[in-house]
Amino acid sequence: MAPRKRNRQLRPPRPVKRLPQALIIGVRKCGTRALLEMLYLHPMVQKASGEVHFFDRDENYALGLDWYRSKMPLSFKGQITIEKSPSYFVTPEVPERVRAMNSSVRLLLIVREPVTRAISDYTQLRSRATPSAPAHPAPPAGEAARPFEHLAITPDGSINVAYRPIAISLYHSYLHRWLEVFPREQLLVVNGDRLIEDPVPQLRRIETFLGIEHKIGRRNFYFNETKGFYCLRNDTTDKCLRETKGRKHPRVDPAVVTKLRRFFVQHNQRFYELVGEDLGWPE
Ligand code: A3P
Repeated sequence: MAPRKRNRQLRPPRPVKRLPQALIIGVRKCGTRALLEMLYLHPMVQKASGEVHFFDRDENYALGLDWYRSKMPLSFKGQITIEKSPSYFVTPEVPERVRAMNSSVRLLLIVREPVTRAISDYTQLRSRATPSAPAHPAPPAGEAARPFEHLAITPDGSINVAYRPIAISLYHSYLHRWLEVFPREQLLVVNGDRLIEDPVPQLRRIETFLGIEHKIGRRNFYFNETKGFYCLRNDTTDKCLRETKGRKHPRVDPAVVTKLRRFFVQHNQRFYELVGEDLGWPE
C-alpha cells in the first residue's frame, strides 16, 4: 500500500474541469467577448469557449452542476476559470442560482455608455435579420427593417422603454437584484468604453480584483487601423476579434441621440449610486 501512495504523490499535476470562480455576467454589446479574450491572455486564466447559458436557461439549469462543469475548460490548480453569458445580467433567477453554486464567485460587469450600447444592440439585431446570418434568432418581424429612431421613440415622442435595446441599457433596473444577493465588493464594474480605447489599465484593475499577478501589458495589444480596434497577442495567439465585434453603427439622428441621453441621465445616476462610482457618461 505504502509504495502506491508514494507513486501517486510523484505524479505531475493534471488539469481538470472546474466550476468557474469568476463570471462575466454582461452587459451584452458592452465588450463581453473582448473582455474574456483579453483576460485569457493571462497564463492563470482559462475560459469556457462558448456562452454556456447555464444559469439563465431552465433547460440547462435542470441538467445540474455536473453538466455545467463538463462545459468548462481544463485548468490547473490555481488557475481561474471564467465563463461569460451576457444574458445572466438581465435574467431574474440568475443571481440566486449563481449564489447557490458559489457564494464567493467573482462577478465582472462590463458596461458602456447606454445610448451607444442601445445602438450597438440595434445594429446586431438588424444584422441577424439578414439572410447572411440565419443561425441567429431574428428580432420580431418587421422590427429589424425599421430605423432605430422609430423603434426607440414612440409616435407620441416618448422613449420606448419596452424596446429591448433601450430596456437593457437601464442598468440599475437589473443591478439591484445582484446587489441584493452579493456584496458590492464581489462585483467589479468595467468601463467598456475605456476598454476599447486603452485596455491595459482596465485589465490591471481586473487582475487585482481576481487576485492574480499583473501579467497583461502593452506588448499584448496592437492597434489595427482597418478594424479600428485593438487586436490581441501573446506567445500562442495573434488575433483580432471577429467582424461581428466592432461593427459600423448606422447614423442616428443627433436629436434622437440627445433626447435619449437626457432620458438616461436620471437612470445613469441611479446606476452610479448603486455602484458607488460615477462613470461620467455624457448628458
Ligand atoms: P460594436 O460592434 O457595436 O462596436 P459583446 O462582445 O458584448 O457583444 O460586445 C461587442 C462590442 O465589443 C463591440 O460593439 C465593440 O465596440 C466592443 N469591443 C471592445 N473591444 C473590442 C476589440 N478589441 N475588438 C472588437 N470589438 C471590441
